[in-house]
Amino acid sequence: MDTKLHILKQTVTNLLAAPKSMATGHYSGVNYHATTAISDFERKITDHYADFIPGDLASVCRQAGMTFDFPSFGLIVEFEKPVEITLYDDEHVLDENAKEAITRFGTLIFRNAYLAGKFRNQGQRNIFPDLHFHLDRGSNQDNQYSLFCRDPFDAVQKHPRQSSTLITANIIAYLQSLKEGRPPKQGQQSLYEDLFKNEDLSTHIGSTILEQAWTAPEGTGEICLIDNRLVLHASYYRTGQGYPIGVRYLF
Ligand SMILES: [Fe+2]
Repeated sequence: MDTKLHILKQTVTNLLAAPKSMATGHYSGVNYHATTAISDFERKITDHYADFIPGDLASVCRQAGMTFDFPSFGLIVEFEKPVEITLYDDEHVLDENAKEAITRFGTLIFRNAYLAGKFRNQGQRNIFPDLHFHLDRGSNQDNQYSLFCRDPFDAVQKHPRQSSTLITANIIAYLQSLKEGRPPKQGQQSLYEDLFKNEDLSTHIGSTILEQAWTAPEGTGEICLIDNRLVLHASYYRTGQGYPIGVRYLF
């Protein structure tokens, strides 16, 4: 795949070295600035769940049969002007540079970007129940990446959306599940129903949960990519259900 996204490599390197800084780059002649959504991620997790982490997070991960390797969570790339972006090929294979960014940060978000014309009407449109943290793909499926998008040229999706998408790391869902009194389950789970339902989510968003709000102004394209092996996601009916978001599953 002929990708122009190799610029992301340097952005990833810069933000791993200085997570609270802003990295800059350009794609297709348009400048962007990039930031991490949540820095000091491990400390924020251990602060929130101190009562459920007897040693360190690594020992809880071993006990849970999970891995955790996100120094920071979420990479947000915001373009100065609207830009058409090619993220995957005709076989639905995701760009390697995007994959690397997702591996390091769990989630990759582009703001003020939209998919090229031939990709815009692919896939499906979904809306899931409120706060059902889940995986989109089973472990037997090869296309483990989910791409969610808001098409700025679509009559419905050009508007900001009422419901947001919440994304969290597997180990956080495990710890939250323990906190809610559910029996611990080894390994990655495909669904945690009603997780965080009785929590004040404002204390989690920005520290243990990343929120992709879909509230950029009318006519703004937004794209969010995750790896279902590393994170769980849920709809959050922040101000209402809103419209279904575009979804693709990529290899
Ligand atoms: Fe989903």
